[in-house]
Amino acid sequence: MSPPQQPFFLLHLLLLLLPHYLFLFSSPQSPPLLQLLPADREALFDIRQSLHDLPGSSFFSNWDFSSGSEPCNTFTGVICSYDSDEEPNFLQVSTLTLGTGLVDSPGLGGTLPPSITNLTALTELVVYPGRVSGPIPAEIGFRLLRLRLLSISGNRLLGPIPSSLSNLPDLHTLDLGQNHLQGPLPPSLFSSNPNLKVLLLASNGGLCGSLPHEFSDAAKLLHVDLRSNSLTGPLPPPPASLRFLSAAFNSLSGPLSPAFTTSPLPNLEFLDLSGNAFSGEVPPAIFSLPELSSLLLSRNNLSGQLMVAPQAPLSSSLSVVDISHNMLSGQPPEALATAGSLYLNDNHFTGTVPTEYINSIYSGTMTTLYAQNNFFTDISPPPPSTAIPASASLCASYNCMVPPPFATAGCPAGARGELPRPADQCSIGAGGGDD
Ligand SMILES: *[C@@H]1O[C@H](CO)[C@@H](O)[C@H](O)[C@H]1NC(C)=O
Ligand SMILES: *[C@@H]1O[C@H](CO)[C@@H](O)[C@H](O)[C@H]1NC(C)=O
Repeated sequence: MSPPQQPFFLLHLLLLLLPHYLFLFSSPQSPPLLQLLPADREALFDIRQSLHDLPGSSFFSNWDFSSGSEPCNTFTGVICSYDSDEEPNFLQVSTLTLGTGLVDSPGLGGTLPPSITNLTALTELVVYPGRVSGPIPAEIGFRLLRLRLLSISGNRLLGPIPSSLSNLPDLHTLDLGQNHLQGPLPPSLFSSNPNLKVLLLASNGGLCGSLPHEFSDAAKLLHVDLRSNSLTGPLPPPPASLRFLSAAFNSLSGPLSPAFTTSPLPNLEFLDLSGNAFSGEVPPAIFSLPELSSLLLSRNNLSGQLMVAPQAPLSSSLSVVDISHNMLSGQPPEALATAGSLYLNDNHFTGTVPTEYINSIYSGTMTTLYAQNNFFTDISPPPPSTAIPASASLCASYNCMVPPPFATAGCPAGARGELPRPADQCSIGAGGGDD
C-alpha cells in the first residue's frame, strides 16, 4: 500500500502525454491537462454522498465538487491514471484510499454505494478502519477487473463475501478482516484468482461452511488468516506456497494427518489451528516442516502419543510449540528439547519429563516449559551447579509426583502451586482426565 508519490506521478504522466499534445495542438503555449472521466467524477460524488467522516475525522474536507475543481489533483485519497487504450481523452481513478489510516482517526461511517463499481480502472481500493457498514457491492468483482488490492478491514461490513470476487487476474491481496461478514467462502476465491497471495478474513465471526478444497490448489497463496470465524469440516491440504496459516478458533474437525502428510510445505513458518475440534494424532511430519517456527495446536481434541518423524530431521527453527489442552498421552519426544517454548500442559502425558527438556532450559535454549496438569511421575533434577536462567519459566505442578521447588517456580498465575494430583487419579492412570 504505497501509492506513487503524486508530484512525481504527474510529471511522469506529462512526459508520457507530451507527444500527444504536440501532435494535437499546434499552438504549444497552453496544453490543457486531461480531466477526470465524467463517469468517474459522478461515482466519486456518489461515494461522497454515501460515506461521511466520523466525528474527529476530516478525510473528506478537500473533496470539493464545485465546477472547475479537479478531483485528480486535489482530493485526498484519489490517484488517477491515463490509459490511451481505455479512455484516450480522460483520466480515470486508479487508486482510491478512503480514510486517513492514522491511528487516532476514527475513520468513516456510512455504506459503500454500488456506484463504487463504476470506477472501472481501479487497481487499489482501501477503506481504513472505521464504521462503514452494509454489504460489499455484489457486482464489485464483475466490474473492477483490474483490482490488485482490496482492503476494507476493521469496519462493520455485513452480508456475504461476493462470489464476484473471482476471475480477477491481478488480485493479490483481499483483506476483509474484522468486519461482520457471514456465509460461506466462495470456492472460486481460491480457484479463479491466479495471483491471490494474501487472504485476510479473520474475526468476522460468521464466515461458515467448510474451507473449500480449492484452497489446496491456490498456487500463489502466501498468507491466509481465517481466525475467529465459524468454519466447519476438515482442513484440506494447504498449498505448497503457504508461509502463514491461521484458522484458529473455528469449529474445524477431523484428523490433521491428511493435510500434513500429502503435500510438501517447504515454506510454512506459522501454523495456528488452536481452538478447533481436530482429533486423532498430531502428524509426526509436522515437526519436520523445514521452516516451521510457530506450531499452535492448543485446545483441540488431539490424542495418542506425540511423536516426531523418525527419519526426517526436526525443523531447526521451532520457536513455539503449543499443544496444550488436548488429550495427548505417553511420554513426549526428547527431540522437542530444541523448541524455544514448549507448552505441554493440560494433557494426559505420563512417564518422566524428559531430561533433555530440563537441560535445554538450564542451558538457555528453551525459555518456557509448561508441563503442568498432566500425569508425569518424575522429573530429573537440574544439571549440577547451574542456575536456571532468569528469563526461563518451568512449571510441572499438578502431576503424579511431588514437584521439586525448581519445577514450580515458573508456574503461571492460576496453576495449582506445589500440589500433586490426587493419588486416586494417578492410580487409575492417565485415563482419569481432569480438564
Ligand atoms: C453507474 O453506472 C451505471 C451504469 O453504467 C449508471 O446507470 C449509474 O448512473 C452510475 N452511477 C453513478 C453514481 O455514477
Ligand atoms: C474426541 O476424540 C475422541 C476420539 O479420539 C472422540 O471419541 C470424541 O468424540 C472426540 N470429542 C469431541 C468433542 O470431538
